[in-house]
Amino acid sequence: MSRLLAVDLAKSYRLLNHGPTVLVSSAAGQRSNVMAAAWAMPLDFDPPKVAVVIDKATHTRALIEASGEFVLNVPCRAQAEAVLRAGGTDGRQVDKFAHSGLSGLPSQRVAAPRVDGCIAYLECKVISEPRNQQSYDLFIGEVVAAEADAEVFADGHWRFDGDAKRSLHYIAGGAFFATGEAFEVET
Ligand SMILES: Cc1cc2nc3c(=O)[nH]c(=O)nc-3n(C[C@H](O)[C@H](O)[C@H](O)COP(=O)(O)O)c2cc1C
Repeated sequence: MSRLLAVDLAKSYRLLNHGPTVLVSSAAGQRSNVMAAAWAMPLDFDPPKVAVVIDKATHTRALIEASGEFVLNVPCRAQAEAVLRAGGTDGRQVDKFAHSGLSGLPSQRVAAPRVDGCIAYLECKVISEPRNQQSYDLFIGEVVAAEADAEVFADGHWRFDGDAKRSLHYIAGGAFFATGEAFEVET
């Protein structure tokens, strides 16, 4: 069981700054869903905002448009197969959580579930921008709660020691990079 610690909202951009692939979880009414998204990024510090591309064809899009909420979950190396499954099937056809071997957990500030076992969570409320959504499939969300796995994120920094909990970067066709070694430079 991972120990989750709250992340200062103004520092929550650091959970996405290195460009990890995320799982987008959503819910509306009795339905919940999860999909993979490589095109997600921080957008502002305070109030913190994120941007994510959610294609019109996805079930996730319908749930987010209905609820105005979503969670960006940062999955890890141990979950790569599940990420690919969540990104390759339609939540209208199958229970994506069951199909991907993922479990939902209650969130703090939104009805959309979190995805158990992820290394960070950004709970978001949609800032409605109909033109961006329609023209570019681009959704902007304000981050209203953020937590991270204390084993790999502490004091505002990622610390990946082992392999299993490294975040993922997607290329295409089932190929990923795991986040590599950190280094620092001085100016
Ligand atoms: C690793 C990975 C990354 C993906 N990134 C995105 C993305 O950034 N935006 C998007 O709209 N679809 C992306 N997709 C495709 C969706 O995850 C896919 O269409 C999914 O089946 C949608 O599920 P849903 O219809 O149940 O919501 C990605 C797929 C994979 C495997």
